[in-house]
Amino acid sequence: MLKLENLSVRFGGLTAVNAVSLSVRSDEVVGLVGPNGAGKTTLFNAISGLVRPSDGRILFDTRDIVRAPLHRRARMGIGRTFQIPQPMHELTVRENLIVAQRFGTGRVDPARLDEVLAFTGLGAKADHDAATGLALTELKALEVAKALATDPKLLMLDEVLAGLETAGKRRFMNMLKELHAKFSVGILIIEHDIETISNLCDRVAVLNFGELIADGTPDEVFSNPEVIKSYTGDGHA
Ligand SMILES: Nc1ncnc2c1ncn2[C@@H]1O[C@H](COP(=O)(O)OP(=O)(O)OP(=O)(O)O)[C@@H](O)[C@H]1O
Ligand SMILES: [Mg+2]
Repeated sequence: MLKLENLSVRFGGLTAVNAVSLSVRSDEVVGLVGPNGAGKTTLFNAISGLVRPSDGRILFDTRDIVRAPLHRRARMGIGRTFQIPQPMHELTVRENLIVAQRFGTGRVDPARLDEVLAFTGLGAKADHDAATGLALTELKALEVAKALATDPKLLMLDEVLAGLETAGKRRFMNMLKELHAKFSVGILIIEHDIETISNLCDRVAVLNFGELIADGTPDEVFSNPEVIKSYTGDGHA
């Protein structure tokens, strides 16, 4: 479904993503890990169309989408959340989903929105202001709901579990597992917690200083000495 070939993103003299090749199938949950500043969010931005790569190809369902604008990529089925939840504060929860859905699909499908609201546990909060009265878990659920409303084939989640306490994290993780099956959506998830990644993901890719240094099962990857070294800080091999 998604295939990155030698993808690079440069900001002036800084190479934030360096010749990364990576693929995600629709039946997979793939973790993207790596130290702060490794280039994870930048990779998401390149895939969703927020930053322009300096080199390489992004294939989605075999089409090269490097030049496709943001909304076209959303309509092809690329959905994402943002590291910092950013609901439109002057709107209700449901209105936030309507805006997201219209952007991502070109139409509004109230039945799908009801389904998404119920699935993400936001049914009772549908008519609440997004700015007030939402707990952190609900703000995170709203991020996922906004992406789900666009009918994605690929869902990219940027640290959507960060900051949740253990029980909340477990519930949220189960919700992600369920949505992967129920909505037949491939997931690429950025997450720092190794236990969470191991529990959730079929495969893990590791970025360090913009380079992909490992790609394999959680067991393989987290026992790889180069990965351990990157995590303990003296990274640049
Ligand atoms: N728009 C930008 N302009 C210039 N530099 C940028 C820009 N966006 C990101 N960077 C730089 O690119 C590098 C990668 O940043 P990125 O946000 O992708 O890392 P990350 O792996 O998501 O880190 P974190 O775990 O802290 O979220 C960093 O050095 C960052 O400062
Ligand atoms: Mg980031």
